[in-house]
Amino acid sequence: MIVLKHAKTYEEMSKIAYSFVKEVVTTSPNATLGLATGSTPIGLYKEMIKDYQAGVVSYKNMLSINLDEYVGLPVEHPESYRSFMNNNLFNHIDIDKANTNVPNGLAEDIEKACKDYSAFIASHPIDIQILGIGGNGHIAFNEPGTPFDAITHLVELKEKTRQDNARFFDGDINKVPTHAVTMGLKDIMSAKQIILLASGAGKAEAVRDMVYGKMSPECPASILQSHPNVIVIVDEAAGYYLKA
Ligand code: GLP
Repeated sequence: MIVLKHAKTYEEMSKIAYSFVKEVVTTSPNATLGLATGSTPIGLYKEMIKDYQAGVVSYKNMLSINLDEYVGLPVEHPESYRSFMNNNLFNHIDIDKANTNVPNGLAEDIEKACKDYSAFIASHPIDIQILGIGGNGHIAFNEPGTPFDAITHLVELKEKTRQDNARFFDGDINKVPTHAVTMGLKDIMSAKQIILLASGAGKAEAVRDMVYGKMSPECPASILQSHPNVIVIVDEAAGYYLKA
C-alpha cells in the first residue's frame, strides 16, 4: 500500500524522508539501509549528515546496500555511483566503508556478480529502502518492460534515461554509459519499508502512473502498489496530479 506525503518544497520533502530514516536508525543500531543515487536523495543525505555531526545518530554498526552502478566506469570516476555515495554520504558519517555495498560495474563475470548481489540482499534484509524515480517510471535502473520478478541484472539504459543523466556528464549523452547493473524489482520489493522521493515537474506523470496507474512493467514503479509499506514523498511539482 502506498501512503502519500505532500511537501511544499524539496527541503521539506528531504526533512520528511529523514524522519523515517531517523526512526529506523535510532531504534535499530544494526540496521541495513538500502540507498539510492541521483539528485533527489541529496537533501536527505544532508539531513543524515547534519544529525550525525550533531551527535544525535551513529551509523557505526550499520550496513548499506546500494541500488545500482554504471557498467564500465572506473570506481574513481566522479560520476560512478560509488564515488557519488562516498562524496555525498559515506565520507561524512561514521559508517564503516567495508560495510557499504555498491554493485560492481567492472566485474569480469557480471552475471555471477549479479547473482551474488541478490543473494547478499536476501541474507541481509533491508530495513528501509530509499528510492527516487526516473521520468519514465524506472526505479533503480529497472527500465520500462523489466519483469516484476527480476533480481539483480545487467541492463541496457533507455535513451530517455541516458538523456536525463547526461547533465552529470558535461551534458553529453555519448559520455553516459550504455549499460548498468541494477537491483531487480524483486530485490527492491523485499525491503521491509520503502521511502520513494520525487521532486520537480519532470516526475509528475511518472508519479501519477506509479500511484494511480495499472500495475504493469510499463511503469516499473507501479509494482510498489503491491508492497505493504511504502511512503511516497512528493514536493508540490512532482505531486501535481495527486489528490491531496
Ligand atoms: C537514475 C538512478 C535512479 C534515480 C533516477 C532519478 O537513473 N538510477 O535510482 O532514481 O536516476 O534521478 P534523479 O534523482 O537525479 O532525478
